[in-house]
Amino acid sequence: MQAEVTVISHPLIQHKLTLMRKAETSTAKFRTLLKEISLLLAYEVTRDLPLKTETIKTPLATMEAPVLAPDKKLVIVSILRAGQGILDGMLELMPSARVGHIGLYRDPKTLIAVEYYFKVPHDVDKRDMLVVDPMLATGHSAAAAVTRLKSTNPASLKFVCLLAAPEGIEYLHEQHPDVPIYTAAIDEKLDDRGYIVPGLGDAGDRLFGTH
Ligand code: URA
Repeated sequence: MQAEVTVISHPLIQHKLTLMRKAETSTAKFRTLLKEISLLLAYEVTRDLPLKTETIKTPLATMEAPVLAPDKKLVIVSILRAGQGILDGMLELMPSARVGHIGLYRDPKTLIAVEYYFKVPHDVDKRDMLVVDPMLATGHSAAAAVTRLKSTNPASLKFVCLLAAPEGIEYLHEQHPDVPIYTAAIDEKLDDRGYIVPGLGDAGDRLFGTH
């Protein structure tokens, strides 16, 4: 099975992403832009949420009005730490969504992803899962996170990022061909330190002002 990659090329997203890329953009502005873009990404990623109708009264009439089907619940899982930036924007649009966190670091000797934090809601098996991390670079931590999260048996799983490198898309696809990827842009390549080029630098550092 080959899941699709969706590039969400809405003009507002593209404009805001360009502002985020600029080296001179401040931490405060970077944070706000990521939140705004994440809201727009969430809008696209949730396009297929099912609706039901309920009877309501407007000031003028009674009508059958669409509401989200109550059995379709979401969990957003942030890959620490930069995932927090996307999570904030998504929660603004979907305040009732549950939240999970996964923290991984790469062992410098073995280069294997090691989990240092993991917490997801207990009823994750009844929820559609959005796994969020701004940068899909080598794809190694994304793939490791998805492997771990799949073991909790979510109803469905989508991976949402801001920027992806072709290498990261290929690796995540190879490891998890069933997982659809949503991104605002696909950049040219990775450099020899694993940074996305042209990219925007270290998303976590720019988000938290730690550079
Ligand atoms: N992580 C980042 O924050 N930036 C990159 O370019 C690659 C991985």
